[in-house]
Amino acid sequence: MTAPDSSQAVQNPNAFASAEREAVYRVIGERRDMRHFRSDPVDGDTLWRLLEAAHRAPSVGYMQPWRFLRVTDPALREALHAHAAEEQARTAEACGERAAEVHRLKLEGIREAGELLVVALTDGRERYVLGRRTLPEMDLCSAACAIQNLWLAARAEGLGMGWVSLFDPDWLARQLEMPEGGYPIAVLCLGHVERFYDRPMLETAGWDRRRPLADLVFQDRWGAPCEPAAAEDAAEAGSAPDEPAGSGKA
Ligand SMILES: Cc1cc2nc3c(=O)[nH]c(=O)nc-3n(C[C@H](O)[C@H](O)[C@H](O)COP(=O)(O)O)c2cc1C
Repeated sequence: MTAPDSSQAVQNPNAFASAEREAVYRVIGERRDMRHFRSDPVDGDTLWRLLEAAHRAPSVGYMQPWRFLRVTDPALREALHAHAAEEQARTAEACGERAAEVHRLKLEGIREAGELLVVALTDGRERYVLGRRTLPEMDLCSAACAIQNLWLAARAEGLGMGWVSLFDPDWLARQLEMPEGGYPIAVLCLGHVERFYDRPMLETAGWDRRRPLADLVFQDRWGAPCEPAAAEDAAEAGSAPDEPAGSGKA
């Protein structure tokens, strides 16, 4: 992923300086979903800064539906790990012919990460209608924006993060004594890492590949190629494979 040409900053007075823009594109490109952590703790000021970054996310109707729960009880962490392991086994069975592969994948670092957070949607969401009348799931999208902010800020701070969704939301809500309507959407493993993966781990493991962007951008109607983007993507993709390797999702 490359930053735009620095001459564009001259043309647009609202643009950030070249080095700042490069940093933004770099952090986006080098963010990884991490499953391997060192066990040293995340410093409290840094954690709060990351949560502030999350809390600056856009949200439908300015709803701010995100709630963050810090997991510090070792027994709770252990229970979460055991639950995720069971869920991975169930997921493997649901993946049919790729079950053995899913069993082998490392899909969480719950035990190792210095910090464990749960992100949940608030209770009482039905009271928020602005922007959600036809699309009630916009609260989920808003909370996902907050998680992405946290993820990118963590990468800039040199901390790794892994989003774990291997859990039964009702089970987790009960464990954390959430009120009726409170709905967990993520277990976040956050912490120091030895090194960041160069590529998505699921790519390295042969699960799937990044699709060429031009295959995903349409113009005016579904499936119609978007010409300038297609040309750029072809140039950038170079030796990118035509077909993704996997059919499943994680
Ligand atoms: C909503 C969401 C849920 C995810 N759940 C898991 C998970 O349970 N376990 C896991 O290993 N990765 C999970 N991931 C991470 C993806 O596997 C990862 O983002 C993808 O493979 C691309 O890798 P990258 O994030 O390093 O670019 C999740 C990602 C998202 C956005």
